[in-house]
Amino acid sequence: MVRPIAFLVGLFFAGMLVYSGIRGAIVLVTEPTAKTAEKVFHKHPRHVDWSFNGPLGKFDQAQLQRGFQVYKEVCAACHGLKLVSFRDLQNIGYTEGQVKTIATEWAIETPTVNPETGEPATRKSIPADKIPSNFANDTAARAANNNALPPDLSLITKARHNGPDYVYSLLTGYVAKQPAELVKQFPDSEIKKGSTLHYNPYFANLNIAMAPPIIANDQVTYGEGAPKATVDQMAKDVSAFLTWTAEPKLEVRKQTGLAVFIFLLAFTWLAWMSYQNIWSEKKKKA
Ligand code: HEC
Repeated sequence: MVRPIAFLVGLFFAGMLVYSGIRGAIVLVTEPTAKTAEKVFHKHPRHVDWSFNGPLGKFDQAQLQRGFQVYKEVCAACHGLKLVSFRDLQNIGYTEGQVKTIATEWAIETPTVNPETGEPATRKSIPADKIPSNFANDTAARAANNNALPPDLSLITKARHNGPDYVYSLLTGYVAKQPAELVKQFPDSEIKKGSTLHYNPYFANLNIAMAPPIIANDQVTYGEGAPKATVDQMAKDVSAFLTWTAEPKLEVRKQTGLAVFIFLLAFTWLAWMSYQNIWSEKKKKA
């Protein structure tokens, strides 16, 4: 008795599956999902030929240092890097002494507590400190940014699809005016006068609360021997730097991957040769 019931229950479930599959397909064809401004106008990041792309990719240390300089002089006003310590900067070529100077001279001091009164206070940073945020907490950060939260940038290139390309495209992708076609098709998405939003087709919902941070050539003064500090170059450099903050061990990962690949190739060859060797006698007999 149990068997036919189990069979019928199974049949019922299979039937429902087929039914909902067919219904879903019909709805998909007859009622296509509504078009949204993001679906029509959102752009995929532009591809950049990074030095760290590909299986043999490596960071360009001079570029990382320039990127750090852009972060320090432009982005640090709003964005923290809470997973990066000052002393980590030694890994992109700064000496111990330079790191010490960078930490003590950092414009934003490290939060602490006054040991006598217990009141919140700040002190000069030391190399072991994490790079401090300009804001005490998210509420303060929002208060200073028209209620938008500038995210911590330590992992941003990992948190977004095609991270390095994305950050570069976002920084260089601002468009002064929304396309007329967009406003016509989606009047709700219009950026009204007096709004603090900016049109940027690379941002997920097209209207970003961050004003274009890199706006003029030579906004940051690069040192001797560096390429010209164009907007494009600065955007690339800071994106490369943020790739390093998100994955400082990228080079080791790539080198290990290559070594493992070569090992596996050699091992496959060895396995094939021993297979041939073991079976050669038997084959001859047959
Ligand atoms: C004046 C403050 C300010 C400065 C300076 C600034 N940002 Fe922002 N940034 C913001 C705010 C606010 C947001 C949140 C935007 C939103 O949610 O609409 C943001 C968001 C971002 C995002 C996240 C976008 C996303 O996909 O969520 C990235 C990446 C970013 N900023 C990079 C930078 C870089 C790189 C610099 C320096 C070159 C910089 N920002 C300088 C305020 C700032």
